[in-house]
Amino acid sequence: MEPVLATGAFCGRLEEGMNRKGILLAGGTGTRLWPLTRAVSKQLLPLYDKPMVYYPLSVLMLAGMREILLISTPQDLPLFKLLLGDGQSLGLKLSYAEQAKPEGLAQAYQIGAKFVGTDPSCLILGDNFFYGAELGKLLASAQAREKGATIFAYQVADPSSYGVLTFDKRNRITSIEEKPAKPKSHWANCGLYFYDGRAVEFARGLKPSARGELEITDLSRCYMKDQSLHGERFGRGSAWLDTGTADGLLQAAQFVQTVQTRTGMLLGSPEEVAFRQGWIGAKELGELAEAIGKNAYAETLRQMAAEGKR
Ligand code: TTP
Repeated sequence: MEPVLATGAFCGRLEEGMNRKGILLAGGTGTRLWPLTRAVSKQLLPLYDKPMVYYPLSVLMLAGMREILLISTPQDLPLFKLLLGDGQSLGLKLSYAEQAKPEGLAQAYQIGAKFVGTDPSCLILGDNFFYGAELGKLLASAQAREKGATIFAYQVADPSSYGVLTFDKRNRITSIEEKPAKPKSHWANCGLYFYDGRAVEFARGLKPSARGELEITDLSRCYMKDQSLHGERFGRGSAWLDTGTADGLLQAAQFVQTVQTRTGMLLGSPEEVAFRQGWIGAKELGELAEAIGKNAYAETLRQMAAEGKR
């Protein structure tokens, strides 16, 4: 039987996708978490037993991406490098770039222009937490779409603080409204975006919005005009959690603790995903566990390495 990946109970392995490049955007000011984040990026804070950035990194890896650019603030970037290095031990090629000021999510495609070039790409926000049995399937379908873009939607009770999406019958997006006073649906736009090779070119043409940011919504709208913006909806069996507030961060940590303690499996472990994807072997996984030392996280990895199966 194919083992179930704890990082979203993802069954089976994804094809390594074309040349799709991954961008992990992990800057920002994190004002909603101040004073916690005055001195350090929220993406380095613990989400239960691992740094927050491990979770979105694991999602990119689950989707098959091995070349990843991490973007963060000039102050935090050295800490991310200390944590993740060049990614080689995880079978990745990790590189880093600075965002001098938090001038919007779409700026990732200006900063990462050379890295992405005309390749397809996937952008994930460093504070986004995803979990669910359908995650692997949805990632695979976005990964396989060579033309156009795919964005993701999650049903929330109060959509007014999100980008709100509407769909046509063929699951193409017909409207995106940023933080609307009267939302047209309950579908909030998640922080995960798959774009084809035109993203850098589209991003070059963007102008700052009224709040002075390069909006990811405007980049997605370039695809909407082209009728090639597809939407994937997460169902009720999935979780997309907010980690950007003190309550959200605690709730996400409790969610991870509950699932991990109950199942004995890990959520959001890049070491595990690298192993399941076949990018590292049992020996390398064991070495990673040894380097972490004596704790429950390392012990779970050690057991996985000893069982030796993916
Ligand atoms: P936000 O949560 O919108 O902004 P923030 O992280 O600065 O937090 P706050 O609203 O509490 O001040 O950012 C979403 C994600 O995108 C988060 O992972 C940080 C990242 N981000 C950047 O890396 N650069 C940016 O310019 C912006 C706006 C966000």
